[in-house]
Amino acid sequence: MRFILASLIIAASHVAAHYTFPKLIVNGTASAEWQYVRMTANHYDNGPVTDVTSSAIRCYELDANSATNAGIATVTAGSTVGFVADNTMGHPGYFSAYMTTAKPAANSNSAGLSKTWFKIWEWAPTWSASTGLVFASENIVQFTFTIPKNTPNGQYLLRGEQIALHVAGTLGGAQFYIGCAQINVVGGGSGSPGPLVSFPGAYSATDPGILLNMYNLPAGYSGYQAPGPTVWKG
Ligand SMILES: *[C@@H]1O[C@H](CO)[C@@H](O)[C@H](O)[C@H]1NC(C)=O
Repeated sequence: MRFILASLIIAASHVAAHYTFPKLIVNGTASAEWQYVRMTANHYDNGPVTDVTSSAIRCYELDANSATNAGIATVTAGSTVGFVADNTMGHPGYFSAYMTTAKPAANSNSAGLSKTWFKIWEWAPTWSASTGLVFASENIVQFTFTIPKNTPNGQYLLRGEQIALHVAGTLGGAQFYIGCAQINVVGGGSGSPGPLVSFPGAYSATDPGILLNMYNLPAGYSGYQAPGPTVWKG
């Protein structure tokens, strides 16, 4: 009995280190869990995606009902949005947010399957020779950013991601925490978002920002090289 209890405690603490992004922040308010975010396959165990070539790297949905079960949040371009995690995000990593136009609608399973994704925000670790990599984002519970003001009106998926780097020194070690919210952008502009990428496709397992021993940086290291495209500023 004592052994079983100890195992359960170890299992629980293991799970507590991981996380999901079930709540969308809009208009200064966090939604209910999975109200606008497609329910992810890790909604129970909180485990990460580790294969950048799998379809799970896109939105990590539990199943085809994840899209239809979630609502679509109306979001004003230029406003602040974000994701709230179900746990303290204790792993050091690189945060980013992507969007894709969503046709025929944000709650459609055919949305976001093509090379239609663009990056709108990132939060990278800083680096100096004396400090090494510094993760100001470690141990936060939510992250927020702005929908670019010139984003054209319409339906989008909004993908929040953290690439946790604590065991990224071996191939396939980086841990991807992902949530996709379904949104309808209003009050937008006439920008042309880009560069455009696909998921899977945007990342390679050997990208220097994905395969990286953060505790023993390569010789000549000069700072974190983010994977994926540059940020579209709108
Ligand atoms: C956010 O505010 C806008 C403008 O008032 C409103 O149209 C929209 O429905 C709000 N979104 C949510 C998810 O409450």
